Parts: sequence; structure tokens; C-alpha cells
Amino acid sequence: MTTLIKNGRIITASDDYVADILIEGETIKTIGRNLPLQVDTTTFIDATGLLVFPGGIDPHVHLEMPFMGTFSSDTYETGTRAALFGGTTTVIDFILQKQGNSLRSALEEWSSRAKGNAVGDYSFHMAVTDFNAGTKAEIKEMIEEGITSFKTFMAYKGALMIDDRQMIGLMDEVKQLGGLVTVHATNGDMIDYLVEKNRAEGNFSPLYHYLSQPEVTEAEASERFADMINYTGCPGYIVHLTCEGALNAVRNATRRNQKVFVETCIQYLLLDASLYEKDFDGAKWVMSPPLREKKDQSTLWAGINQGLVQVVGTDHCPFTWEQKLMGKEDFSKIPNGHPAIEHRMELLFSEGVKNGKISLQKYVEVTSTNAAKIFGMFPKKGTIAIGSDADLVLFNPDQKHTISANTHHMNTDYSAYEGWEVTGKVKTVLLRGEVVIDNNECLVHKGYGQFIKRNKVKGFI
Ligand code: URP
Ligand code: ZN
Ligand code: ZN
Repeated sequence: MTTLIKNGRIITASDDYVADILIEGETIKTIGRNLPLQVDTTTFIDATGLLVFPGGIDPHVHLEMPFMGTFSSDTYETGTRAALFGGTTTVIDFILQKQGNSLRSALEEWSSRAKGNAVGDYSFHMAVTDFNAGTKAEIKEMIEEGITSFKTFMAYKGALMIDDRQMIGLMDEVKQLGGLVTVHATNGDMIDYLVEKNRAEGNFSPLYHYLSQPEVTEAEASERFADMINYTGCPGYIVHLTCEGALNAVRNATRRNQKVFVETCIQYLLLDASLYEKDFDGAKWVMSPPLREKKDQSTLWAGINQGLVQVVGTDHCPFTWEQKLMGKEDFSKIPNGHPAIEHRMELLFSEGVKNGKISLQKYVEVTSTNAAKIFGMFPKKGTIAIGSDADLVLFNPDQKHTISANTHHMNTDYSAYEGWEVTGKVKTVLLRGEVVIDNNECLVHKGYGQFIKRNKVKGFI
């Protein structure tokens, strides 16, 4: 099967030129000017006037995740399909080890939900919530399975959090075996204290979710994590970094020539904590860490341009309004997370590129290339090059549209961006050579998405 895409403006993390792309099977065979139509060309696409990006990679999503007494509402089918509509062709989801159980049993549980159901490609991080002699021995096995990143939580005590002793032990093991440790870096004990204090004082509205996780809780944990990866020499990645204090901790770490990879998420660049002042409606944005201040948004945009922030993900962890109502009387019972997987690429293009905050190359870096490099998928994923998977987004940079729950494809009945007017829209998406989205229609079924086995990581990009 061959596909010829003519006259697209190809944008990678380093290039910007007009050319044709010839795809054979699942990969890119040739890139050049005036490529002739092959006798066996099965699909011809005229991309004149369109930008062509590498398929987006969102390395932070939670699909069908058991959490806070319920499950996040997107399945592998609905979540990866919604991702494709928005130009994200690969996601990395989080397997959660149950404390007391093995990593292997968690992998089996997550694989059984994903396999045969994913529409887009997916991989897994393994969250180690209980590091002991047994799990230590399993790290090597997970890396052989292609799961080369290990997630840790410095918060959610009693469910997911590990202590610093376990953290250091995990880092020592992961470093030796060629993996990467990622972290939810907030100080869980401080947060638990503030949550209890607020509840004891009769403060139960969503605003107090925000007030229970002040900036210092994230800055302190980010600094501690940076110190621990510096000490152990293990490659490290901070997920969903939100604020100035935490980014300054990373900036300080770089002064000793240390690399700490940083991901922020689209919501922290665009939304702020004033949304928590809307009484219970604020529950739509209850997530951890919470939305921050305008000054933090500026810090994060600057951090992207300074190369301190390498990735913009989503932390997509959607719940329906009915699920959010579990915390109607008590903010600490509102399931944490919000829907975003579908709109990351379009929102970042509109607010970042169109508004002149980041370049087209930086856009590709933070939505695709850097995640592929950091997580061991490059150059199969994350770029447009001969031999790479033909994961491509054909993007109309001028088309305006409005985000709404009435038209989105995520399995939630509200949108965190209801009514947002966006410039730039995904027109066609190819995943491993197949047209999967065309003009707002999904052309493949569940089961098309494949598990992506990842390589060992290098700790630099
Ligand atoms: O609120 C969030 N972020 N929910 C998902 C779990 C996590 O901490 O990433
Ligand atoms: Zn988290
Ligand atoms: Zn998350």
C-alpha cells in the first residue's frame, strides 16, 4: 500500500519546507519535490496550504484508571480515538501497581483493558507504588517488555505515595538498567495536613482544593526530587509541573550541569486559579497540582523557550459531572483530573504559535519530538523522516472553530474549555500509514492502536 501526500509544508523540530511524502506500508519511504504518482498508489492527498506535523505524542494520560473510588471516564477506545481527532497519534498511559501486589499483575490488568480496544498507538509508564525486594527484581523484566519509565508519587499517601527511601532505591535500580524515573512532585504530607485543616475549619468547596496545595508544596518536592536524581545519577522527569517555584528548583539544578526533564500541561499554560471561585462549578478543574496564577503561566511559557520545559502533555484524567458530584459536600472527595486529550495540539497551536509565544519548531518539539526522544521512541515516532512511522497530522492553520462538549469526542459531558475560540484545526491524520481521521471522521476501529515497546533511555536529548 502506498500513499502520496503532495505539497504539504513539512514542519519538524528543525525544519520548515514544502515537499511531497511517499509512504509505503507503515513508514515514510521518500521525501522530495515533485515525486511522481506510483502505479500502485492507493491514496493520494493534496496537502497544498496545509502544515504537516509529526503525529502528536501525549506522554501523560489516564484511561480507565481506578482512582478515588471510581474510574476515569475515557476507555482506551474513546480516549485514544479522541486523541486522534486532535492530532495525537500516540499516548503513554500510567499503570498503577497496587500496594502489596506485583508490577507484573498490574501490567496484565492494564494490558487487558488496552489490547484490542485502543484506536491510536499507546505505551505505558509503570507507577511503582510499593518498592521492595520483589518489585526491585521486576524492574529488569519491565524494561524488557518495553516499559522503560517508572512513575513515582510524592503525594496521595496510603494509595500511591512512596517515601524517599523507596525513591532512592528505585532510582539506583532504574539507573543501572537504563530507565527513567518520573515523578508527581508535590509534598504529600504537607498537602494532607492542609486538607485536614481546611475541612476541620468547615471549608469544603473546590476553592479549598486549590488552597490546600500551595506553590511551596510543589517547589519543595521538585527540589528534593532534583537533588535525589543528582545524587543517584538516575535520569529524571517531573510530570505536570505548574509553577514558578518548581521551575526555579529545576533551574537551580541545571546550574550544577544536571538535566531534569520537565513536562507541563496545556491547562497550566492557559487556565488559572480564578476558576475555583465559581462555587461547585470549580470542580471541573479540580486536579492535582491545581491551576495556578497568571505569573506562573508566564514562567511556563518562558521555560518552554528557555529549554527548561521540554514537553506539553495533558494529564488527561476525565470524569463525568456525575462523578465530580461525589465531592459536592467535600472537595477532598472530588475525583482529581480533567478532560484535555483531544484539544492539546489545537489549543497550543492557537495560543502558542498563532499568538506568537512559540515558534512552529518549538511547537513540534514540545508536542511530539521531545517526548519521543526522552521516552525511547525516536526516530520511529516524533519526526517526519525516511524510515519513521508515517504518523502525520495535516493541519489547516487558519480554520477557526469553537471547543464544546457538544462536539468533542471525549467521554465526558462537560468541556474544560467550553466556548473557547481556536484558530487552527486538524484536517487529516495518518497513523502508521493509514488515514485514521479525515474531515472530522474517524476511519479506523478499536484494535487499530498498537502497543509501542520503548527503548532504553539516554537521559539526554
Ligand atoms: O488530578 C490529576 N492529576 N489526576 C490524575 C492523577 C495525577 O496525579 O496525575
Ligand atoms: Zn500527578
Ligand atoms: Zn497524571
